[in-house]
Amino acid sequence: MRDCFYITTPIYYVNDKPHIGHAYTSIASDVLARYQRLRGLSCYLLTGTDEHGQKVAKSAEKAGETITNFTDRFAGNFLSMAERLNISHNDFVRTSEERHKICAQAFWRKLEERGDLYDKLYAGWYAVRDESYYDVSELVEGSDGTRRAPSGAEVEWVEEPSIFFRLSKYRDALLSHYDAHPDFILPRTRMNEVRAFVEGDLWDLCVSRTTFSWGVPVPNRSNHVMYVWVEALTNYLTGLGFPDSSSSLFKYWPADLHMVGKDIVRFHAVYWPALLLSAGLDLPRRIFAHGWWTNDGEKISKSLGNVIDPLELIASYGLDRVRYFLLREVPFGEDGNFSHSAIVRRSNEDLANGLGNLCMRVLSLVERGWKGRIPPCGELRDEDRALLETFRQAESLLQKRIEVCSFHLALDGIFGCLAEADRYITREAPWALLKNSSDKTRAGTVLYVLCDCLRMAAIDLQCFMPASMSQLLTMLGVSETARDFSSRATRLEEGGRLVDVQAIFPRLEREDK
Ligand code: MSP
Repeated sequence: MRDCFYITTPIYYVNDKPHIGHAYTSIASDVLARYQRLRGLSCYLLTGTDEHGQKVAKSAEKAGETITNFTDRFAGNFLSMAERLNISHNDFVRTSEERHKICAQAFWRKLEERGDLYDKLYAGWYAVRDESYYDVSELVEGSDGTRRAPSGAEVEWVEEPSIFFRLSKYRDALLSHYDAHPDFILPRTRMNEVRAFVEGDLWDLCVSRTTFSWGVPVPNRSNHVMYVWVEALTNYLTGLGFPDSSSSLFKYWPADLHMVGKDIVRFHAVYWPALLLSAGLDLPRRIFAHGWWTNDGEKISKSLGNVIDPLELIASYGLDRVRYFLLREVPFGEDGNFSHSAIVRRSNEDLANGLGNLCMRVLSLVERGWKGRIPPCGELRDEDRALLETFRQAESLLQKRIEVCSFHLALDGIFGCLAEADRYITREAPWALLKNSSDKTRAGTVLYVLCDCLRMAAIDLQCFMPASMSQLLTMLGVSETARDFSSRATRLEEGGRLVDVQAIFPRLEREDK
């Protein structure tokens, strides 16, 4: 088994400010990366910005800025978004960097050596917003009666001398790969869509443009720049030092997971594997396509003026509530609806009333009865053992769920255990036991059991809410070296000192926001 793991986020177009959709992809990828590291794997997380192509060039022109100024400014916004979201990326690739140009061109040469590129005039439809070619059979009629891409983007007729990639040659190889790896694309419904696309008329792909110059130049072909998607996909190799085969990072290839939104599955699950097969490189192990967020039921778009700024959400609610909400509220893979009342409700019900309240009840009793030291664990009764067992066994379920990106179920499982702990504290009523000195040993045992359960829950929740769970583990006196999954099976030290106990996740009052 490999001891390393490689996860990528899509690289974000720098034509606009980061929004909730970008934050969502990055947070989900970060949760997985943190989880794998807590399991002891060396996990590399790559993110970055997609800076070439017509869409970005046009946006810079519209803003009246030089392309370099414009891309620097927006790439800076994406980098600071990653920092504000507490994304634990190992590298951030900008496709305008020299190392990316070297990688993309080396990759191109491999396709050329394989004999998979040929010249032809492209005459067909193109959507700049999607940076995507469409066959006429795919176009739909927009509400204004014009031809549109299935995404709703405007399309234009393009005719230009181009270079094509023999995508059709890889049709059978792709289909056999899907057959042999049924979990290559998750959720499975997306696999069906991809398969239908490949089984249909799989045309060769146009991979160069000649009507503008903002891109990576095609080697030895003046006037041609690479089609932005082909070049952008190679960022996943740029981040590992390709083409330098001596790069110590190359051990991470192939990617274990490309996290993407449902709109860009075709690029990752059809074009990218075919390009990799042509270049003689291993295929990624999995592509996960998550759903899209709407805002109060409406599609999020700049023209509707309903774009949700993740930085504003963090300022209003705090980062970990936002991270929790985005991954708990909606089954990962499905579309979801954002509303301020929903985030307030989730935060109050699960984080304030559930986890926060339980922590406060337990820790304040420990402070009161044992001067802030973890009480000794007396003889365990069946009910104590049952609760501890519930938390201990939760780990394997968590692993199964996180490995298929079922974040909502992973969280549901952990919060189910916490609800069990809540019922236990109500039943055992340690506050009542404490009133009677002869019951103090029993009260201590109950609180010890609860502290140990909180420790396990906090370890499990770290990848979702890193800052607040690190705070909780510190409060419980768990040392920094005992917070990974290998330490989960140990026990909390009796007599250990609680540190700086404070309320976590106080209630939010703004239900109406
Ligand atoms: N540049 C390409 C990706 C190239 S990867 C080699 C791109 N960039 S993007 O900035 O437009 O989108 C990045 C990600 O944000 C995509 O995964 C997309 O699905 C996601 N989202 C954009 N809007 C979204 C929502 N409203 N909701 C959820 N995610 C959405 O595509």
